[in-house]
Amino acid sequence: MHWLDHSTAFFLSELSFYDYGSISFWGHNLSNSLANKYSTNICFCMKNRVGVGFRRDIADEFLHNDNFNPDFIEFAPENWMGMGGYWKKILDKAAEKYPVTCHGLSLSIGSSEPLDYGFLKELKVFLNDCNVEIYSEHLSYTKSKNAHLYDLLPIPFREDAVKHIIQRIKEVQDILERKIAIENVSYYTPVGAQMQESDFIKSIVEESNCDLLLDVNNVYVNAFNHKYDAMQFIDDMPLDKVAYIHMAGHEKVSDDLIIDTHGQAIIDPVYDLFEYTISKIKPIPVLLERDFNFNQFNSIVDEFKQLKAITSKHWEVSHVS
Ligand SMILES: [Fe+2]
Repeated sequence: MHWLDHSTAFFLSELSFYDYGSISFWGHNLSNSLANKYSTNICFCMKNRVGVGFRRDIADEFLHNDNFNPDFIEFAPENWMGMGGYWKKILDKAAEKYPVTCHGLSLSIGSSEPLDYGFLKELKVFLNDCNVEIYSEHLSYTKSKNAHLYDLLPIPFREDAVKHIIQRIKEVQDILERKIAIENVSYYTPVGAQMQESDFIKSIVEESNCDLLLDVNNVYVNAFNHKYDAMQFIDDMPLDKVAYIHMAGHEKVSDDLIIDTHGQAIIDPVYDLFEYTISKIKPIPVLLERDFNFNQFNSIVDEFKQLKAITSKHWEVSHVS
Protein backbone atom coordinates (compact mmCIF):
# COMPACT_ATOMS: atom_id res chain seq x y z
CA MET A 1 0.00 0.00 0.00
CA HIS A 2 1.31 3.50 -0.86
CA TRP A 3 2.03 5.73 2.12
CA LEU A 4 -0.70 8.10 0.99
CA ASP A 5 -3.22 5.31 1.38
CA HIS A 6 -2.00 4.67 4.90
CA SER A 7 -2.26 8.36 5.61
CA THR A 8 -5.79 8.56 4.27
CA ALA A 9 -6.86 5.56 6.32
CA PHE A 10 -5.41 7.23 9.37
CA PHE A 11 -7.33 10.47 8.79
CA LEU A 12 -10.58 8.62 8.36
CA SER A 13 -10.03 6.57 11.50
CA GLU A 14 -9.37 9.78 13.43
CA LEU A 15 -12.50 11.69 12.40
CA SER A 16 -14.08 11.30 15.82
CA PHE A 17 -11.08 13.25 17.15
CA TYR A 18 -12.76 16.33 15.75
CA ASP A 19 -15.85 16.17 17.90
CA TYR A 20 -15.58 19.79 18.95
CA GLY A 21 -18.80 19.63 20.89
CA SER A 22 -16.94 18.02 23.76
CA ILE A 23 -13.86 20.21 23.67
CA SER A 24 -13.20 22.43 26.64
CA PHE A 25 -10.62 25.14 26.80
CA TRP A 26 -7.72 25.07 29.16
CA GLY A 27 -5.86 27.80 31.13
CA HIS A 28 -4.38 31.00 29.69
CA ASN A 29 -7.80 31.96 28.43
CA LEU A 30 -6.85 35.58 28.00
CA SER A 31 -9.28 38.23 26.89
CA ASN A 32 -10.04 38.58 23.20
CA SER A 33 -9.18 42.27 23.30
CA LEU A 34 -5.55 41.42 24.04
CA ALA A 35 -5.28 39.66 20.68
CA ASN A 36 -5.64 42.99 18.87
CA LYS A 37 -2.65 44.64 20.50
CA TYR A 38 0.11 42.93 18.54
CA SER A 39 1.08 44.63 15.33
CA THR A 40 3.00 42.88 12.59
CA ASN A 41 6.62 42.42 13.65
CA ILE A 42 8.15 42.93 10.24
CA CYS A 43 10.56 45.83 10.18
CA PHE A 44 11.27 47.77 7.01
CA CYS A 45 14.51 45.87 6.38
CA MET A 46 12.55 42.62 5.90
CA LYS A 47 10.08 43.93 3.34
CA ASN A 48 10.69 43.17 -0.30
CA ARG A 49 13.43 40.72 0.55
CA VAL A 50 14.06 37.15 -0.53
CA GLY A 51 15.39 34.68 2.01
CA VAL A 52 16.46 31.04 1.88
CA GLY A 53 15.81 28.25 4.38
CA PHE A 54 18.84 27.73 6.61
CA ARG A 55 19.68 24.01 6.79
CA ARG A 56 22.70 22.26 8.30
CA ASP A 57 23.60 20.56 5.00
CA ILE A 58 24.24 23.95 3.41
CA ALA A 59 25.18 26.02 6.47
CA ASP A 60 28.67 26.58 5.02
CA GLU A 61 27.22 28.19 1.90
CA PHE A 62 25.34 30.73 4.04
CA LEU A 63 28.45 31.57 6.07
CA HIS A 64 31.26 31.41 3.52
CA ASN A 65 29.95 31.56 -0.06
CA ASP A 66 30.44 35.15 -1.24
CA ASN A 67 28.33 34.51 -4.33
CA PHE A 68 25.28 33.55 -2.30
CA ASN A 69 23.63 36.46 -0.51
CA PRO A 70 20.11 35.80 0.71
CA ASP A 71 18.45 38.78 2.38
CA PHE A 72 17.42 36.73 5.42
CA ILE A 73 17.25 33.15 6.67
CA GLU A 74 14.47 30.98 8.06
CA PHE A 75 14.73 27.88 10.21
CA ALA A 76 12.54 25.70 12.40
CA PRO A 77 13.04 26.69 16.05
CA GLU A 78 12.48 23.08 17.15
CA ASN A 79 15.62 22.05 15.25
CA TRP A 80 17.83 24.54 17.11
CA MET A 81 16.33 25.27 20.53
CA GLY A 82 18.51 24.04 23.38
CA MET A 83 21.38 23.38 20.99
CA GLY A 84 24.94 23.73 22.28
CA GLY A 85 28.47 23.15 21.00
CA TYR A 86 29.42 23.32 17.33
CA TRP A 87 25.93 23.84 15.90
CA LYS A 88 25.07 26.56 18.41
CA LYS A 89 28.16 28.46 17.23
CA ILE A 90 27.06 28.03 13.62
CA LEU A 91 23.56 29.28 14.45
CA ASP A 92 24.96 32.30 16.29
CA LYS A 93 27.17 33.17 13.32
CA ALA A 94 24.24 32.87 10.91
CA ALA A 95 21.97 34.96 13.15
CA GLU A 96 24.70 37.59 13.35
CA LYS A 97 25.06 37.73 9.58
CA TYR A 98 21.39 37.59 8.53
CA PRO A 99 17.96 38.78 9.74
CA VAL A 100 16.04 35.73 10.97
CA THR A 101 12.53 34.34 10.64
CA CYS A 102 11.32 31.11 12.24
CA HIS A 103 8.87 28.56 10.87
CA GLY A 104 7.58 26.17 13.53
CA LEU A 105 6.80 22.49 13.22
CA SER A 106 5.23 21.33 16.46
CA LEU A 107 2.75 23.92 17.69
CA SER A 108 -0.10 21.74 16.37
CA ILE A 109 -2.58 24.60 16.31
CA GLY A 110 -5.40 22.28 15.23
CA SER A 111 -5.09 19.71 18.03
CA SER A 112 -7.81 19.28 20.60
CA GLU A 113 -5.47 18.77 23.56
CA PRO A 114 -4.07 21.80 25.42
CA LEU A 115 -1.25 23.84 23.95
CA ASP A 116 2.20 22.86 25.20
CA TYR A 117 2.77 25.79 27.54
CA GLY A 118 6.28 24.66 28.50
CA PHE A 119 7.27 24.65 24.84
CA LEU A 120 5.70 28.07 24.25
CA LYS A 121 7.63 29.52 27.19
CA GLU A 122 10.94 28.23 25.78
CA LEU A 123 9.96 29.32 22.30
CA LYS A 124 9.30 32.88 23.43
CA VAL A 125 12.80 33.11 24.93
CA PHE A 126 14.38 31.60 21.81
CA LEU A 127 12.53 33.95 19.41
CA ASN A 128 13.57 36.96 21.44
CA ASP A 129 17.19 35.77 21.85
CA CYS A 130 17.56 35.29 18.09
CA ASN A 131 15.79 38.59 17.24
CA VAL A 132 13.30 36.65 15.17
CA GLU A 133 11.16 39.07 13.20
CA ILE A 134 8.48 36.67 12.00
CA TYR A 135 7.31 33.47 13.63
CA SER A 136 5.01 31.33 11.53
CA GLU A 137 3.29 27.97 11.89
CA HIS A 138 1.14 25.62 9.85
CA LEU A 139 -2.64 25.57 9.73
CA SER A 140 -2.62 21.87 10.54
CA TYR A 141 -2.18 19.47 13.43
CA THR A 142 0.77 17.24 14.26
CA LYS A 143 -0.31 15.77 17.59
CA SER A 144 -3.23 13.61 18.62
CA LYS A 145 -3.83 12.27 22.09
CA ASN A 146 -0.26 13.11 23.09
CA ALA A 147 1.21 11.24 20.12
CA HIS A 148 3.54 13.22 17.84
CA LEU A 149 2.54 12.17 14.33
CA TYR A 150 5.49 13.87 12.56
CA ASP A 151 3.32 15.05 9.71
CA LEU A 152 1.27 18.14 8.96
CA LEU A 153 -2.25 16.75 8.91
CA PRO A 154 -5.19 18.66 7.43
CA ILE A 155 -7.80 20.09 9.77
CA PRO A 156 -11.43 19.53 8.75
CA PHE A 157 -12.81 22.66 7.10
CA ARG A 158 -15.63 23.19 9.61
CA GLU A 159 -17.10 26.07 11.60
CA ASP A 160 -16.36 24.41 14.94
CA ALA A 161 -12.74 23.94 13.88
CA VAL A 162 -12.59 27.63 12.91
CA LYS A 163 -13.78 28.71 16.36
CA HIS A 164 -11.36 26.35 18.10
CA ILE A 165 -8.35 27.52 16.11
CA ILE A 166 -9.14 31.23 16.45
CA GLN A 167 -9.10 30.77 20.22
CA ARG A 168 -5.81 28.86 20.05
CA ILE A 169 -4.08 31.42 17.83
CA LYS A 170 -5.17 34.24 20.13
CA GLU A 171 -3.82 32.31 23.08
CA VAL A 172 -0.47 31.70 21.37
CA GLN A 173 -0.19 35.37 20.40
CA ASP A 174 -0.93 36.43 23.97
CA ILE A 175 1.69 34.07 25.37
CA LEU A 176 4.37 34.97 22.83
CA GLU A 177 3.34 38.65 22.92
CA ARG A 178 3.65 38.87 19.17
CA LYS A 179 1.53 38.40 16.09
CA ILE A 180 2.12 35.07 14.35
CA ALA A 181 1.65 34.10 10.70
CA ILE A 182 -0.33 30.99 9.82
CA GLU A 183 0.43 29.02 6.66
CA ASN A 184 -1.96 27.38 4.22
CA VAL A 185 -0.78 23.76 3.98
CA SER A 186 -0.79 21.17 1.22
CA TYR A 187 -3.07 18.18 1.77
CA TYR A 188 -3.95 15.12 -0.23
CA THR A 189 -7.46 14.42 0.99
CA PRO A 190 -9.92 16.87 2.50
CA VAL A 191 -11.24 15.42 5.75
CA GLY A 192 -14.85 16.02 6.79
CA ALA A 193 -15.02 19.34 4.91
CA GLN A 194 -18.19 21.37 5.47
CA MET A 195 -16.96 24.62 3.98
CA GLN A 196 -14.59 25.90 1.30
CA GLU A 197 -10.89 25.84 2.21
CA SER A 198 -10.57 29.53 1.26
CA ASP A 199 -13.44 30.48 3.62
CA PHE A 200 -11.84 28.36 6.35
CA ILE A 201 -8.49 30.16 6.05
CA LYS A 202 -10.05 33.60 5.65
CA SER A 203 -12.27 33.27 8.73
CA ILE A 204 -9.38 32.09 10.90
CA VAL A 205 -6.94 34.77 9.78
CA GLU A 206 -9.41 37.65 9.97
CA GLU A 207 -10.98 36.74 13.31
CA SER A 208 -7.81 35.77 15.17
CA ASN A 209 -5.92 38.90 14.09
CA CYS A 210 -2.95 36.84 12.90
CA ASP A 211 -1.07 37.22 9.63
CA LEU A 212 -1.22 34.85 6.67
CA LEU A 213 1.86 33.05 5.42
CA LEU A 214 0.81 32.33 1.86
CA ASP A 215 2.65 29.30 0.47
CA VAL A 216 2.19 29.74 -3.27
CA ASN A 217 3.50 26.27 -4.08
CA ASN A 218 0.98 24.76 -1.65
CA VAL A 219 -1.81 26.60 -3.47
CA TYR A 220 -0.55 25.22 -6.77
CA VAL A 221 -0.21 21.66 -5.40
CA ASN A 222 -3.69 21.68 -3.85
CA ALA A 223 -5.28 23.29 -6.92
CA PHE A 224 -3.73 20.61 -9.15
CA ASN A 225 -4.58 17.65 -6.90
CA HIS A 226 -8.09 18.82 -6.00
CA LYS A 227 -8.82 20.35 -9.40
CA TYR A 228 -9.60 23.94 -8.58
CA ASP A 229 -8.46 27.26 -10.01
CA ALA A 230 -5.25 28.41 -8.26
CA MET A 231 -5.63 32.07 -9.30
CA GLN A 232 -9.20 32.17 -8.03
CA PHE A 233 -7.97 30.70 -4.74
CA ILE A 234 -5.38 33.49 -4.48
CA ASP A 235 -8.11 36.05 -5.19
CA ASP A 236 -10.21 34.53 -2.39
CA MET A 237 -7.44 34.89 0.20
CA PRO A 238 -7.40 37.87 2.60
CA LEU A 239 -4.56 39.47 0.63
CA ASP A 240 -4.26 42.44 2.98
CA LYS A 241 -3.28 39.94 5.70
CA VAL A 242 -0.47 38.25 3.75
CA ALA A 243 2.74 39.10 5.61
CA TYR A 244 5.08 36.43 4.25
CA ILE A 245 5.33 34.12 1.24
CA HIS A 246 6.81 30.65 0.82
CA MET A 247 7.99 29.31 -2.52
CA ALA A 248 9.21 25.75 -3.08
CA GLY A 249 9.45 22.88 -5.52
CA HIS A 250 7.27 19.78 -5.72
CA GLU A 251 7.34 16.41 -7.45
CA LYS A 252 4.83 15.11 -9.96
CA VAL A 253 4.39 11.42 -9.22
CA SER A 254 1.53 10.65 -11.64
CA ASP A 255 -0.74 12.41 -14.12
CA ASP A 256 -3.13 13.45 -11.39
CA LEU A 257 -0.94 13.73 -8.29
CA ILE A 258 1.87 16.04 -7.23
CA ILE A 259 3.60 15.95 -3.85
CA ASP A 260 4.85 18.98 -1.94
CA THR A 261 8.42 17.75 -1.41
CA HIS A 262 10.57 20.91 -1.18
CA GLY A 263 13.15 18.79 -2.98
CA GLN A 264 12.92 19.93 -6.60
CA ALA A 265 13.41 23.18 -8.46
CA ILE A 266 10.39 25.48 -8.71
CA ILE A 267 8.54 25.02 -12.00
CA ASP A 268 7.40 27.86 -14.27
CA PRO A 269 3.64 27.63 -13.50
CA VAL A 270 4.46 28.17 -9.80
CA TYR A 271 6.61 31.20 -10.68
CA ASP A 272 3.67 32.47 -12.75
CA LEU A 273 1.30 32.03 -9.79
CA PHE A 274 3.83 33.79 -7.57
CA GLU A 275 4.03 36.72 -9.97
CA TYR A 276 0.24 36.88 -10.14
CA THR A 277 0.13 36.93 -6.32
CA ILE A 278 2.74 39.58 -5.69
CA SER A 279 1.22 41.86 -8.31
CA LYS A 280 -1.74 42.13 -5.92
CA ILE A 281 0.04 42.79 -2.61
CA LYS A 282 2.47 45.18 -0.98
CA PRO A 283 6.15 44.21 -0.56
CA ILE A 284 6.68 41.47 2.02
CA PRO A 285 9.44 38.91 2.67
CA VAL A 286 9.59 35.87 0.37
CA LEU A 287 11.25 32.63 1.47
CA LEU A 288 12.65 29.88 -0.73
CA GLU A 289 12.15 26.52 0.98
CA ARG A 290 14.43 23.59 0.13
CA ASP A 291 14.58 20.53 2.37
CA PHE A 292 16.20 17.88 0.11
CA ASN A 293 18.65 17.51 -2.76
CA PHE A 294 21.13 20.02 -1.39
CA ASN A 295 23.75 18.68 -3.79
CA GLN A 296 21.89 20.70 -6.42
CA PHE A 297 23.05 23.89 -4.74
CA ASN A 298 23.40 25.79 -8.02
CA SER A 299 19.71 25.22 -8.57
CA ILE A 300 18.96 26.83 -5.20
CA VAL A 301 21.06 29.86 -6.18
CA ASP A 302 19.24 30.09 -9.52
CA GLU A 303 15.84 29.92 -7.83
CA PHE A 304 16.85 32.60 -5.37
CA LYS A 305 17.98 34.86 -8.23
CA GLN A 306 14.76 34.27 -10.15
CA LEU A 307 12.65 35.18 -7.12
CA LYS A 308 14.74 38.33 -6.65
CA ALA A 309 14.19 39.27 -10.30
CA ILE A 310 10.42 38.83 -10.05
CA THR A 311 10.06 40.74 -6.77
CA SER A 312 12.27 43.56 -8.06
CA LYS A 313 10.16 43.86 -11.18
CA HIS A 314 6.91 44.26 -9.22
CA TRP A 315 7.89 45.88 -5.98
CA GLU A 316 11.04 47.95 -6.04
CA VAL A 317 9.72 50.66 -8.35
CA SER A 318 6.05 50.85 -7.52
CA HIS A 319 5.72 50.11 -3.82
CA VAL A 320 8.77 50.91 -1.76
CA SER A 321 8.43 54.25 0.01
FE1 LIG B 1 5.73 26.48 3.20
